[in-house]
Amino acid sequence: MKVTNAEIVISAVSEKQYPTDQLPEVALAGRSNVGKSSFINKLINRKNLARTSSKPGKTQTLNFYKINEAFYFVDVPGYGYAKVSKKERQKWGKMMETYFEKRSSLKAVLLITDVRHEPTNDDIQMYDYLKYYDLPVVVIATKLDKVPKSKRAKHLKRTKNLFDLEPEDILLPFSAETGEGKDEAWSILREYMGL
Ligand code: GTP
Ligand code: MG
Repeated sequence: MKVTNAEIVISAVSEKQYPTDQLPEVALAGRSNVGKSSFINKLINRKNLARTSSKPGKTQTLNFYKINEAFYFVDVPGYGYAKVSKKERQKWGKMMETYFEKRSSLKAVLLITDVRHEPTNDDIQMYDYLKYYDLPVVVIATKLDKVPKSKRAKHLKRTKNLFDLEPEDILLPFSAETGEGKDEAWSILREYMGL
């Protein structure tokens, strides 16, 4: 997809701040620092519209990026960052619950994992949670550039097995560094959003 327009519309912490124009949207989910914001930037060819950081915990709010006046990417704060207080974690949980359980324009969730590592218990819990709410999940195995070509198939298989993906769920190898998987990501997204 040719992106001609991309802008942040709102950094939301509560439901009443969500955009109300009914455009379809896809949300990102995944561990802190895994590469969620980088995924968005790569897809829309912007270096840092979605703010990234080498330190975990950069994204703290639900950030709605409107693309081509046609749909939204929703960047979501990551989970599993040990230095977050219990109170912060509860706040995060509430914010996520409200969003994932009620948002009717949400068409699919991109669950981002680091292809180098086994999915964590948090990842698997997230996957099961999304499936429980009948949300289509696309697992994006990112940082593919960090794994030698000869080992990629093995890593991808491990990810697939540990999530125990349902037949309709897609696992997509991706790199925000090299752009591998970008075209496939767009065609998957278009299909889910009916664009
Ligand atoms: P939080 O907002 O803190 O939850 O993090 P995030 O998931 O949005 O991660 P972010 O996109 O900020 O990226 C974290 C770090 O990983 C940054 O230093 C990125 O440059 C790096 N990174 C992201 N994707 C890739 C990738 O595909 N390959 C490589 N080599 N590095 C990546
Ligand atoms: Mg982020």
